[in-house]
Amino acid sequence: MSKQAVLSIKNLKTSFYPNKGQTVIKAVDDVSLDAYPGEITAIVGQSGSGKSVTALCVFNIVDTSGRIEAGEVFLNGRDLRKLGDRALRNVHGKEISMIFQDPTSALNPSIRIKKQLIEAITAHERISKNMAMKRCEDVLVRVGLKNTKKILNSYPFELSGGMCQRVMIAMAIISNPNVLIADEPTTALDLTVQRGILEELLALRDKGMAVVLITHDLGVVAQTADQVYVMNNGKIVENGTVYDIFEKPQHKYTKELMNAIT
Ligand SMILES: Nc1ncnc2c1ncn2[C@@H]1O[C@H](COP(=O)(O)OP(=O)(O)OP(=O)(O)O)[C@@H](O)[C@H]1O
Ligand SMILES: [Mg+2]
Repeated sequence: MSKQAVLSIKNLKTSFYPNKGQTVIKAVDDVSLDAYPGEITAIVGQSGSGKSVTALCVFNIVDTSGRIEAGEVFLNGRDLRKLGDRALRNVHGKEISMIFQDPTSALNPSIRIKKQLIEAITAHERISKNMAMKRCEDVLVRVGLKNTKKILNSYPFELSGGMCQRVMIAMAIISNPNVLIADEPTTALDLTVQRGILEELLALRDKGMAVVLITHDLGVVAQTADQVYVMNNGKIVENGTVYDIFEKPQHKYTKELMNAIT
């Protein structure tokens, strides 16, 4: 039996229309991508190639100057672009979540961490207060945070940037979604913490989650990814297994990327 993608992006096109007279930016230009349960699918490519916009479009988050112009985003067989707001709210967090590259967008500065994490659970399930607290503490430990009680009672501004980033990761995985899109999840973290987060992503993959990992770091890709998509100028120029991309790159741009690290 052939394997079935849990997330399938088909021919996605998104452009930005800046002020009059400026040229249109084709940020995402006919992108297709499949992510499978139990695999890490990496998206690599230089800054500005369209990685984040692709991910944001999956959640229908596009800046006012931007427009999704074509394409489908199938999740568990349903086209998310055809779902209404209410149906989408049920899907987000439970079936698919995202770790944002821009951490300021994810945590509410005026609400304690505990409340934000509990809301991420109760948005989708009925659960006792005690059980919810236990889940919160467990998930913070999984992202490498100690002193969990103190963190739960803190406001985001009382935590360091790295701690906030780990809380965001915790929030994204607390409801155990089928798909996790992680946009540069470890960039701002020091190396040991980075390693812990990557190990957690691998553990989630081993439990059957489809993880889409967006990163500049080809070393991380080599160590963790199963499938790799290479993006340049809004397009996927090449995709394949991690072995194919590293050992037998076909496209000129992929070869350049590989040469840059060796
Ligand atoms: N809100 C926006 N308004 C106008 N243009 C935008 C906006 N967001 C992104 N773009 C443009 O879309 C293109 C793709 O941007 P995107 O953020 O997806 O790149 P990226 O591959 O994630 O880069 P990085 O590796 O730096 O995160 C870029 O040309 C960028 O300038
Ligand atoms: Mg980005």
